[in-house]
Amino acid sequence: MNQVASTGTGAPALVRSEVLGSIKVEQLTCSIGAQLHGVDLADSVHDDDLFAEIKTLLLRHKVLFLRDQTFTRAEHVAFAERFGPLRNHPVTGSDPDHPGLVHIHHGPDVKRMQYENAFHTDGSWREDTSMGAVLRCVKCPPVGGDTIWVNMVQAYERLPEHIRTQIEDLRARHSIEASFGAVLPIEQRHKLKAQFPDAEHPVVRIHPETGEKLLYVNSFTTHLVNFVTPDHVRFGQDYAPGASDLLHYLISQARIPEYQVRWRWQPNSVAIWDNRSTQHYAVYDYWPAVREMERAEMFEEKYN
Ligand code: SIN
Repeated sequence: MNQVASTGTGAPALVRSEVLGSIKVEQLTCSIGAQLHGVDLADSVHDDDLFAEIKTLLLRHKVLFLRDQTFTRAEHVAFAERFGPLRNHPVTGSDPDHPGLVHIHHGPDVKRMQYENAFHTDGSWREDTSMGAVLRCVKCPPVGGDTIWVNMVQAYERLPEHIRTQIEDLRARHSIEASFGAVLPIEQRHKLKAQFPDAEHPVVRIHPETGEKLLYVNSFTTHLVNFVTPDHVRFGQDYAPGASDLLHYLISQARIPEYQVRWRWQPNSVAIWDNRSTQHYAVYDYWPAVREMERAEMFEEKYN
């Protein structure tokens, strides 16, 4: 019989019985992230019990980390597809032989083309947002290039009560044009926007599987779309005085270290994260060293 033990103490916990083997769960911070030991992710492509336990742990810890995973690209794709359908990225492109597997390569030639070093939730600029992702390190710099994940459920819960009340029904616009598009020539930017019109999402979303409330604004968010002051006060040319400050304040919550975990990569390290309840930031401190990652992103239909 499989059991998922509490990891609330910070001590490693055995979550699988001896019969089916064991996953040792090492909680990495008080807020978010656990490292799994004794698991070969390639096995979970065909082992339903193992996959179910990984999924349970993912919902609990929001990001899971593993070392020394030597799966093939096909196994990477097959494992990620167990969570949901994969999709390609319109700007970074995908592996032609393994659709859905995005290569994220940085080295001496790509000093300026950085997209990942801002706190973000993958694909919040889409209407159908991202469920999660599975990222494997192929090559990493001798030092630097860590990734940080943030618990956005906690970021919501720890907001002052009057802010939680204020943002309860607010909605926000998310844009690929203003993020990936900003570095493109104007025609390409307009084409990208035509293909992916800005998306609108609630500022406070409900996680479709855990029911938790979470803060859903990030560096792809351009503005609040239904913000009004209590008496519809307007100052000069500003229709929504205070809206930008509020949005910046909300976006800045991801920077709070108590909500974060920071992961040091090695070749064949893997991170699996829930994009609904987290944000992440790939630290770009290693240029001109090479960093090569492969990411499969899962999506799901719009849920709220
Ligand atoms: C991403 O932003 O999805 C990639 C994160 C990373 O390269 O560490």
